[in-house]
Amino acid sequence: MSAPAKKPIALVDYHPPNGDITQEVLAGLAQPQKRLSPKWFYDEKGSQLFDRITRLPEYYPTRTELGILHTHIAEMADMIGSCAAIVEFGAGSSVKIRILLDNLETPSAFIPVDISGEHLLDATRQLATDYPDLEILPVCADFTQPFDLPVPAATVNRNLVFFPGSTIGNFSLEQARQLLKVMAIEAGPGGGLLIGVDLKKDRATLESAYNDEAGVTAAFNLNLLVRLNREIGADFDLDQFAHRAIYDEDKGRIEMHLVSAKDQSVNIAGRRIDFAAGEYILTECSHKYELQEFADLAAEAGFNIRKVWTDPERMFSVQYLEVG
Ligand code: AVI
Repeated sequence: MSAPAKKPIALVDYHPPNGDITQEVLAGLAQPQKRLSPKWFYDEKGSQLFDRITRLPEYYPTRTELGILHTHIAEMADMIGSCAAIVEFGAGSSVKIRILLDNLETPSAFIPVDISGEHLLDATRQLATDYPDLEILPVCADFTQPFDLPVPAATVNRNLVFFPGSTIGNFSLEQARQLLKVMAIEAGPGGGLLIGVDLKKDRATLESAYNDEAGVTAAFNLNLLVRLNREIGADFDLDQFAHRAIYDEDKGRIEMHLVSAKDQSVNIAGRRIDFAAGEYILTECSHKYELQEFADLAAEAGFNIRKVWTDPERMFSVQYLEVG
């Protein structure tokens, strides 16, 4: 007997403009502080490398967040209540979403939102098989801008935005405030946000998390140049740029750099970009928060903090916020 046909997953596609990678890269490298967006990290190779980062001994955020989720999920589920529509910003943490799906009381729907439709469909296929009764409504959209949520067939008591991983840290303070405002809009009146937020701590722990012994984070950072060489015909000499991650205590953030080993020029789409020895490209910022700093930011976006869970060493936090 043949297997029953699976229900196709319908993608709500707002066709976010792809943007012109060449123009964006050239604009970033034309600034006095050369920069490239961390969004370019995640091609296929970069996503694999990031996956390896999350399992590194030095990279505490993923396992610490998972520990907090596992330890406190019953209390989280109690606060969130029954029949929540879970809206995940960025599709990628299938392990984490499963903790919610396995513990919340009759979730009404799962609505993952991501800029890459392909990535979304990949991420949801296995979930659809494992949770055959769950309504899955993927939305392809740039989640930094408000978008219309699909309406689930089942009754929804509240929308729960889920944003794990401390990805909020990769946005500047102003961008994070804006993004939290979008989340408040999507959560709607009485809605909630369950968010992972990495906390400030000693420099040594932070810097080793982003400068691992095995060199996986270095490969992840340098893969950005590999990608530009392949996709937009740049000619970065990979041996002449080095990974560096440093904690800027004043700004409360880890900065990842690609440092030029010598005076050199790189050609991109007919344009020559000069680098002095020691000059660097800023590729990523990863902000770390004091609990009060994050509470203030969330309040400015219209959220009240209902509960903060941390690990015993207070390395990381998972927070439940409600639209106030
Ligand atoms: C995805 N994001 C939360 C990671 C971070 O820690 O900022 C990205 C990362 N970059 C280097 N290692 C991990």
